[in-house]
Amino acid sequence: MQKLRMAINIRKQEKVGEALSSTPCKRCKRPSEPKFIPIIGWKEQEYCTECLKIILAEKEKETQRKLKEEKISRLIKESGIRGIMHNMTFGSFEQGYRGVAYNIAKKYAEDFQPDTKHGLVFYGHAGSGKTHLAIAIARYIIEEKQIPVKFMRIVDLLLEIRKTFDENETWKAENESELLRKYALVPLLVLDDIGSEKTTDWVRQVLYHVIDERWIEARPIIVTSNLTLEELEARLGERIASRIAGLARLIEMKDHDYRIKSNPKVP
Ligand SMILES: Nc1ncnc2c1ncn2[C@@H]1O[C@H](COP(=O)(O)OP(=O)(O)OP(=O)(O)O)[C@@H](O)[C@H]1O
Ligand SMILES: [Mg+2]
Ligand SMILES: [Zn+2]
Repeated sequence: MQKLRMAINIRKQEKVGEALSSTPCKRCKRPSEPKFIPIIGWKEQEYCTECLKIILAEKEKETQRKLKEEKISRLIKESGIRGIMHNMTFGSFEQGYRGVAYNIAKKYAEDFQPDTKHGLVFYGHAGSGKTHLAIAIARYIIEEKQIPVKFMRIVDLLLEIRKTFDENETWKAENESELLRKYALVPLLVLDDIGSEKTTDWVRQVLYHVIDERWIEARPIIVTSNLTLEELEARLGERIASRIAGLARLIEMKDHDYRIKSNPKVP
């Protein structure tokens, strides 16, 4: 009985609705038909059905864009890129006599996938743009593909790892595995300025650990260094040098210090 009464009520409301005139759609100005909503009754619609679909799709697109933007700023923050490094992009890199290095770096970034296995080694003179290109790659991969990249200056890496040692200079097992996992699994690790640190047995052991862990996981490393591979081998040992070179393309950056060129007034 109650159901029947409700049905009659709805029918009555529908009839009222038929009397409601259509209002112009706020977007396209064509008449927008009132819509019957059970219980509530007939309601005038601000937008016609087609415009409502378009508006909802635009809202969804905007939500996705915001989520992407948030993800990129989180990844940049977590990457270790900071301060002056924010200016080191492909766009701000003057190709000049560095066209070959630039093209290799750009292509590497464009082709990079989470399962990319090979890396790059930029070696050569101070101020020749090694760090700039390594960071440009990292930024491109984060911004265009939202793939995590970690940038580490070797000095900072050693400082961070030193914190996990106890006074007897033995690894603290739980911190060690946590830290190594962090460096082993990120899809791309940039090790900046390798070979510039004072090389003790401890430094060799730590670097070997980090690099070997990535080697085992077949994860790529981008390395920058003032030293040639032979010099790296002499300083850090064959095991480290061969793992760095094993799956990497070597790019020599000869001569020309950009720091001096871009600031000729400094004596
Ligand atoms: N081709 C270039 N175009 C624009 N800026 C450049 C270029 N090369 C270098 N620079 C700028 O010059 C400065 C030094 O470059 P970068 O730090 O990349 O040198 P580097 O080769 O890593 O030197 P180092 O061996 O001392 O670490 C940075 O501010 C960088 O942005
Ligand atoms: Mg550098
Ligand atoms: Zn409309």
